[in-house]
Amino acid sequence: MANSITLFMLWLSIISTIYNVKLRAHGSTKRASTRFYDFKVQTKRVSKLCNSKDIVTINGMFPGPVVYAQEDDRIIVKVTNMTPFNITIHWHGVRQRLSCWYDGPSMITQCPIQSGQSFTYNFSVVQQRGTFFWHAHVSWLRGTVYGAMIVYPKTGVPYPFKFPYQEHIIILGEYWLKDLQKIEYDTLASGGAPPIADAYTINGHPGPNYNCSTNDFYQIDVISGKTYLLRLINAGLNTENFFAIANHKLTIVEADAEYTKPFTTDTVMIGPGQTLNILVSADQSVGKYSMAVAPYESGRFVLYQNVSAIACFNYIGAPSDSLYSQAKLPKLDDKLVVKTVMDGLRSLNQVNVFREIDENLFITIGLNVQKCHSKTPKQNCQTQNGVLAASMNNISFVNPNISILEAYYKMIKGTYTEDFPDSPPKFYDFVNGAPSNITYDTQSMNGTRTKVLKYGSRVQLILQDTGIVNPENHPMHFHGHSFYVVGYGTGNYNPLTTKFNLVDPPYMNTIGVPVGGWAAIRFVADNPGVWYMHCHIDIHKSWGLGMVFIVHNGKGELESLPHPPPDLPQC
Ligand code: C2O
Repeated sequence: MANSITLFMLWLSIISTIYNVKLRAHGSTKRASTRFYDFKVQTKRVSKLCNSKDIVTINGMFPGPVVYAQEDDRIIVKVTNMTPFNITIHWHGVRQRLSCWYDGPSMITQCPIQSGQSFTYNFSVVQQRGTFFWHAHVSWLRGTVYGAMIVYPKTGVPYPFKFPYQEHIIILGEYWLKDLQKIEYDTLASGGAPPIADAYTINGHPGPNYNCSTNDFYQIDVISGKTYLLRLINAGLNTENFFAIANHKLTIVEADAEYTKPFTTDTVMIGPGQTLNILVSADQSVGKYSMAVAPYESGRFVLYQNVSAIACFNYIGAPSDSLYSQAKLPKLDDKLVVKTVMDGLRSLNQVNVFREIDENLFITIGLNVQKCHSKTPKQNCQTQNGVLAASMNNISFVNPNISILEAYYKMIKGTYTEDFPDSPPKFYDFVNGAPSNITYDTQSMNGTRTKVLKYGSRVQLILQDTGIVNPENHPMHFHGHSFYVVGYGTGNYNPLTTKFNLVDPPYMNTIGVPVGGWAAIRFVADNPGVWYMHCHIDIHKSWGLGMVFIVHNGKGELESLPHPPPDLPQC
């Protein structure tokens, strides 16, 4: 007995010596390592849907390379721009504790990396684990420049659910036959809506429903009786999606890289900017089952691609000529499915959401039509002689010409203002009584307005969708923080009849505000810097559906934003 204890102690000391040496080599005394990645932004010719075109990629890959790390690790990514386009990369869902300079949104925290230049992103995933993704955060380059980012728990820390036999990344996207840069330019110049995507994609593949795509499909091979973890990511530009697997139940165990109480359903809705971890048991008879993606058409007047992307959930042993079981997808505007999934999202453990609020903001979100000021209205003002816009509290966000973070840090005047309002200019029945006299009372104001928060402020936002032009579900994303979704509902927010969930609300970074409804979120502003909040539907973001929070420094080094990195790109 004594012997085995001595042996055990000896073994322990050898192990810890090895471990320490390894850590010292990384220049750290904490139990974390550093992960290095090299991202070359380059164009690449791809053939899809009977067509070839050049797309912007990272390292020639589509989707791009997966970034792997463990909780608390440092991630260092050197991004070199070998294309003619401006680029930035955003690490979606990473809270960037004290590292706002590396957050990535163009003109918010940095100027873009210009052609031929490079910038090295350097940040830690402090107390975060789960499914993230990275994507370009300038113009519409996210259309092809995106990839998964997986952060595992620390060594020895298990998942709070049965360890899956295998895991797979499922990243949803949209694909256009035409050049995306040109589509973006033409759309914004026209003042109208963007063209619908030519296809949805699953890990870059549209699947057999589309022309020339019989072999351009993604397949997971599964063993009967095993359980699989799917890391579902919506990187699409403009479409919220339903996702289902024929005959199989989906059990959500994590949303936006935070664990949730297991919730089992047939279909999920996932908006751009959201991630879901889903357990699927291969518990059906051996065969081929389709994994299908369709649009969630929350808005009445918006057109979407209605052909589903299909991938294959293939049981090993299924005859190769067996027919697919088709997934049942809901009606394209099925709000009940969306609500069911939202109701099912509860944080795994009980949380104590603060009850006292320092900053209480009521923010309307939605579309607008601005007056046409063009001399050629036929080309430039295609929407009832106006220009489509979008806003928060009726202010359409306009990008400044140097980054707000730099202007804030260096106290450069004239770039932005600090007067983002705490409430809309007027209160009315936002959903049913929305103004419709287009171009007269559907206008928004343009501005680069920010809301300044003291370090440590406890903030509540009520995000209220309006019916101006068209009510829609908006996936609202916040940088630098996660927030508790304490409530949501349809219609106008009514504080008198609303009960908030302060016990186990999900802790998210993107919330799909219900179409013609509202959502209430709470967060503590404890991360100094400049943080973008915007709709993750790119066309809405381009039209101005965004605003910026500036969080002041607190006391001392641990509550203050460090100096900018020396290689921060110049405008
Ligand atoms: Cu995933 Cu500001 O974005």
